[in-house]
Amino acid sequence: MNIPFSKVSITGNESKYIEEVLKSGWLTTASKALKFEQLFAQYVGAKYACAVNSCTAALHLAVEAIGIGPGDKVLVPTLTFTASAEVVRYMGADPVFIDVEYGTGLVSPAILKKALLEFPDVKAIILVHYAGQAAEMKVAGGEGILDLCRKHNVKIIEDAAHAFPTKFGDKFIGSFGDITCFSFYANKTITTGEGGMLVTNDEAIYKRAKTMRLHGINRDIWDRFTSIKSSWEYDVIEPGFKYNMPDLNAAIGLAQLEKAEFLREGRQRCAEYYFRELSDLISIDLPICYGPIENHSWHIFPIIIRPEASLSRNEFIEEMSNEGIGVSVHYKPIHRMTYYKQTYNLNPMDYPNAERIWKGTVSLPIYSDLKEEGLEFICQKIKSLLDNRLNYFFYPEENSKVHMYRKILLDNTPKQLNNH
Ligand SMILES: Cc1ncc(COP(=O)(O)O)c(C=O)c1O
Repeated sequence: MNIPFSKVSITGNESKYIEEVLKSGWLTTASKALKFEQLFAQYVGAKYACAVNSCTAALHLAVEAIGIGPGDKVLVPTLTFTASAEVVRYMGADPVFIDVEYGTGLVSPAILKKALLEFPDVKAIILVHYAGQAAEMKVAGGEGILDLCRKHNVKIIEDAAHAFPTKFGDKFIGSFGDITCFSFYANKTITTGEGGMLVTNDEAIYKRAKTMRLHGINRDIWDRFTSIKSSWEYDVIEPGFKYNMPDLNAAIGLAQLEKAEFLREGRQRCAEYYFRELSDLISIDLPICYGPIENHSWHIFPIIIRPEASLSRNEFIEEMSNEGIGVSVHYKPIHRMTYYKQTYNLNPMDYPNAERIWKGTVSLPIYSDLKEEGLEFICQKIKSLLDNRLNYFFYPEENSKVHMYRKILLDNTPKQLNNH
């Protein structure tokens, strides 16, 4: 069997909408991109959306729009893709890397609180909703991530590259922070091939991002060619970027958006299968889903091979590849990347949880086209490789989240799990 790590599901109106674009004769940013922006903003419950050609572009526009500049400090979790940090460097500012929670891979309110005390001069945080699960934006008693940031006058840019459609409580990610950036790269829950979206409720931020998305020109191309004013005339108010999303990509996005919940549900089905089949393997830790399972977009399903397992993470990956099963790693933390390690003299000991995750993490295939037969094959292979063979005997620490979670999994059916 050959099971790719990720697979795009094209089963809706993609071809139809692409054909409409081709027939219209207007391939770059125009009515489809505009419609995609409107429907996306509506979906997540935000006022404004600005379609761009990647999430990296959205993140860059976001740090620019809130005025991050040379010498500023921005908190960034170390367990993320390099894009979350590089956009801070684009502005000449400095990322301050922080650890994440073991189990969820998220920046928790406790981690943030500690970082805000240690670095009281940070201007913003790039908050990653790792794997597709929302960080704890609000908690009872007012010490959630939103509250902490407001209290310390720190702007929140949400890196929601993994997190569409993701909810925190009964609201979608995209409706909380100052700016939220989404990715529609080919392996994401919905895709445009390459693409991204910046959403915000702040009109000034939206206008700034829209202008900077297209060279700092004060009218966009579509407007220039459809308005009755003379089409050649425009002004440049800043040296902006070339980040607009072409209609060809937006056409795919519109079709994918219509099926977003179906695509998310397909991923959830895979996650439930993994939880059910792998929960009694004591040589791995499964990801912790702290809220209702439906709130998670399940972009990735990262398991952690414990150090006590009979196989190392790298050996496990090799064995899976030999069987034709595609797996991946999310992530080698940023503090281990040469540029950041050398520029900021970073020490792995300052990131104990990310280190523990990195040394054992493997992301399993997860997508709506992955059916039961494939899931069974994957789980059987994992069980045959790791079937409770340990190098030495091990009990998860009593009362640790991992321990509690394993107990929940063993005591409940996946449906009951939703209540935790
Ligand atoms: C956490 C995170 N942020 C940002 C990005 C960048 O997304 P894009 O490829 O759309 O620029 C990615 C890419 O997967 C990501 O995983």
